[in-house]
Amino acid sequence: MTDWTDIGALEDIPRRGARVVRTRLGCIAVFRTVDDEVFAVDDACPHKGGPLSEGIVHGRAVTCPLHNLVLRLDTGKAQGADEGAVATHPIVVEGGRILLDASGLRRGRVA
Ligand code: FES
Repeated sequence: MTDWTDIGALEDIPRRGARVVRTRLGCIAVFRTVDDEVFAVDDACPHKGGPLSEGIVHGRAVTCPLHNLVLRLDTGKAQGADEGAVATHPIVVEGGRILLDASGLRRGRVA
């Protein structure tokens, strides 16, 4: 069962930028692409925990700011020959508002 939680306006995130949503289970990075798509992934790179929210967004991918691992935002998986994946979270935009499915964070709290 989904638990859509309003985390803010789409316009609050610049294109090719990110916003961090803090939960008790860790931080989630919410990205906006140049095409106004939004994606949510854990804000910790699967390599050594780099802050993906500070990475460079290109297309539907982000490059980790620490060692340049490239992760797909839709699947969370590393691109190319690299391995690793980051957890993704369901997210939608309705009426200009960003809704994150917090059902996977039941023990946490979207702040
Ligand atoms: S911590 Fe992200 S590439 Fe190393």
